[in-house]
Amino acid sequence: MHLPMSARLDAILSLLLPCRELADVCSDHGLVPVVAVLRGIAQRAVCADLRAAPLEVARQNIARAALADRVIVLQGDGLAPLVTRNADAVVIAGVSGALIVRLLAAHPEVTRGLTQLILQPNQDVDVVRAWALDAGLHLCAERMVEERGTFFPICSFRQGEGRDPLYEHPDWSVRELCVLGPLLIAQRDAAALRAYTQQRDRLGKLVAKGFTAREPEHALWSRACEALVPVGS
Ligand SMILES: C[S@@+](CC[C@H](N)C(=O)[O-])C[C@H]1O[C@@H](n2cnc3c(N)ncnc32)[C@H](O)[C@@H]1O
Repeated sequence: MHLPMSARLDAILSLLLPCRELADVCSDHGLVPVVAVLRGIAQRAVCADLRAAPLEVARQNIARAALADRVIVLQGDGLAPLVTRNADAVVIAGVSGALIVRLLAAHPEVTRGLTQLILQPNQDVDVVRAWALDAGLHLCAERMVEERGTFFPICSFRQGEGRDPLYEHPDWSVRELCVLGPLLIAQRDAAALRAYTQQRDRLGKLVAKGFTAREPEHALWSRACEALVPVGS
């Protein structure tokens, strides 16, 4: 059986802890839930998507993996199909941060019951981290993945007591940490250094061309690159 997993989808699964029911919202092909059940990380899973056509692909992958008894397909907007279920883990990947936040904010009754929430926005990861901080979630793992020259941040959250202490930092403001990722910084993530170097150089070119309004952003990415350089190099 061939299931076309990518480095990005594999990295999402690497952050997933054992769970009872995984729901993959904006699932499309359903590969994350199918492989999570195949690998024994999730006991059962839900592929949820707004549209019927992607869910048809998910159905084909479920059939290919012979998992029709453990992975189901539900059509609907965001987390709405999960209201009557009892998922303990949710993944939302491959869509914008703004959409992720809109979908999560619409169903606090679902997010409250989760032990894990893994989010991989294609843009605006700062919006996702800021929403989670305000929602009382704690960041427990972060990864940056590079796939064909594009960088994808992945954040894993869990329920926490009080405000996430990772955002109390002597060197960085809360807004800066939402942009950069407190754990990516703390762990000197190598892929994050490559991503931030790309940002720094892109903005540096704009500043050199006279776009002085981009100087503060350029300064932030420059500081981030300095912070991520491996110790001793
Ligand atoms: C680019 S695909 C991402 C697929 C997969 N999650 C991944 O990371 O590879 C985006 C999917 O989100 C679905 N989608 C968009 N808006 C949605 C919404 N409001 N609720 C549920 N699914 C949505 C689309 O139908 C599409 O299948």
